[in-house]
Amino acid sequence: MIQTDKNRVSPEPGKDRVMIFDTTLRDGEQSPGATMTHDEKLEIAGLLDEMGVDIIEAGFPIASEGDFRAVKEIAERAENAVICGLARANLKDIDRCWEAVQHARRPRIHTFIGTSPLHRAIPDLTQEEMAERIHETVTHARNLCENVQWSPMDATRTEWDYLKRVVGIAIAAGATTINIPDTVGYTAPVESADLIRRLIAEVPGADEIIFATHCHNDLGMATANALAAVEGGARQIECTINGLGERAGNTALEEVVMALKVRGDIMPFATGVDTRKIMNISRRVATVSGFPVQFNKAIVGKNAFAHESGIHQDGMLKNAETFEIMRPEDVGLSETNIVMGKHSGRAALRSKIRELGYDLAENQLGDVFYRFKELADRKKEIYDEDLIALVHAGTDGESDRLKIKSLKVMCGTDGPQTAHLVMTVDGEEKSTEATGDGPVDATFNAVRAIFAHDARLQLYQVHAVTEGTDAQATVSVRMEEDGRIVTGQSADTDTVVASAKAYVHALNRLLVRRERTGGDTPEVSYKDVS
Ligand code: KIV
Ligand code: ZN
Repeated sequence: MIQTDKNRVSPEPGKDRVMIFDTTLRDGEQSPGATMTHDEKLEIAGLLDEMGVDIIEAGFPIASEGDFRAVKEIAERAENAVICGLARANLKDIDRCWEAVQHARRPRIHTFIGTSPLHRAIPDLTQEEMAERIHETVTHARNLCENVQWSPMDATRTEWDYLKRVVGIAIAAGATTINIPDTVGYTAPVESADLIRRLIAEVPGADEIIFATHCHNDLGMATANALAAVEGGARQIECTINGLGERAGNTALEEVVMALKVRGDIMPFATGVDTRKIMNISRRVATVSGFPVQFNKAIVGKNAFAHESGIHQDGMLKNAETFEIMRPEDVGLSETNIVMGKHSGRAALRSKIRELGYDLAENQLGDVFYRFKELADRKKEIYDEDLIALVHAGTDGESDRLKIKSLKVMCGTDGPQTAHLVMTVDGEEKSTEATGDGPVDATFNAVRAIFAHDARLQLYQVHAVTEGTDAQATVSVRMEEDGRIVTGQSADTDTVVASAKAYVHALNRLLVRRERTGGDTPEVSYKDVS
């Protein structure tokens, strides 16, 4: 049977099945600064597969050796999801994509070309020439793989007649899914629904395949546009965890999935996603991408289930439904935030960590327990967020060529602020003293004095993990060197220590990137047209 995905069975009677296509590892990861390491990509793909995402777009295999390796390994490991790779409209890209995804139990090739007048002008193709290119590349992809997705990039700004024509060509050439991208987040919900409805009604063969919607959030309408497209007949939503993606991001997976779950009364569509896994993957993507979730973000923001005003709290205590349209546990927030402290033992920690969705081996648990005790000596109450920060503090699995041994900083009103730093570089101990405009600046200057580099600090962000003056601070930094962008994160009750560790974390990642790419940065963007 041809793997059109049309034959997917809905888990809920009376509801149509909508497939969730996650592109966190491709569209999300290509946003500047969100670069993830190989191990992080495998981990996120594993979580997506486990939570019931139907299709994982694992990357853009021709972009770099690293991308190719990640897509291939994700394809080899995935147990349930279709694994998809992106390819531009040329035979070399498509072959490379197939080389990576063919190892999957259920592989898919996703090929695309920009069809709007602005995009056609870049490779300087006439409508006719582009139509031929689409026929040739989709046919080639379909000869390699049964499951082929085709996208007319910038579809929402493509002339209607031309869009209709090229969608027809792609279907005739064997595409099994047609994705309609709103590449620049330009469309509005009524148009989004209408466009899909008209394509299904007017393009020959459209009722044989799946239509997908791929929205960007430039005008804050990505979720509304995706849901409207489903209303119009789309049965695949393309999205990312936390809405990660370039500029204002992509449609957020957690928003569309929860909207369909909560408002099944007016949107009778079911997904295969286990929504209780949402919080864990959201936190993990925020950490590894270095893009923190805004506090008031729908579903996964820190305040999404917090009720602070007196009236709200009173109503919540009497009946949670007064102010809650979904239960926190439905998205994986534990019902009670049991506070742990210095008297809590290993068994309590083990059960709490399990409840938070982590399955640690005994030696990993031992490490976390050690860090937990250290933290408990400095901080009275340890919350879920603190534990999550502790779990991730030691699971990076990357090379640690640079390590901080000790840091002492003098600060206050009578500057100059001075940092005394001892570090090891490839095992060799080095120490220095540096001043700066404030304690963090002094610390970063000290790191630079020990390990000279030209990487530019693009972003420095501090968040308190919990409330209170003894709260752990999580620090994210983003750095750039010759086009390589890396992020680093760390958490500590001392903000300056967290900053120093985050900075060194980013430098360690930069060293890995330097090794991987040699002297130059050959990575290709999906926007490079050829
Ligand atoms: O936004 C877009 O158009 C894309 C395509 C490559 C599908 O991401
Ligand atoms: Zn996109």
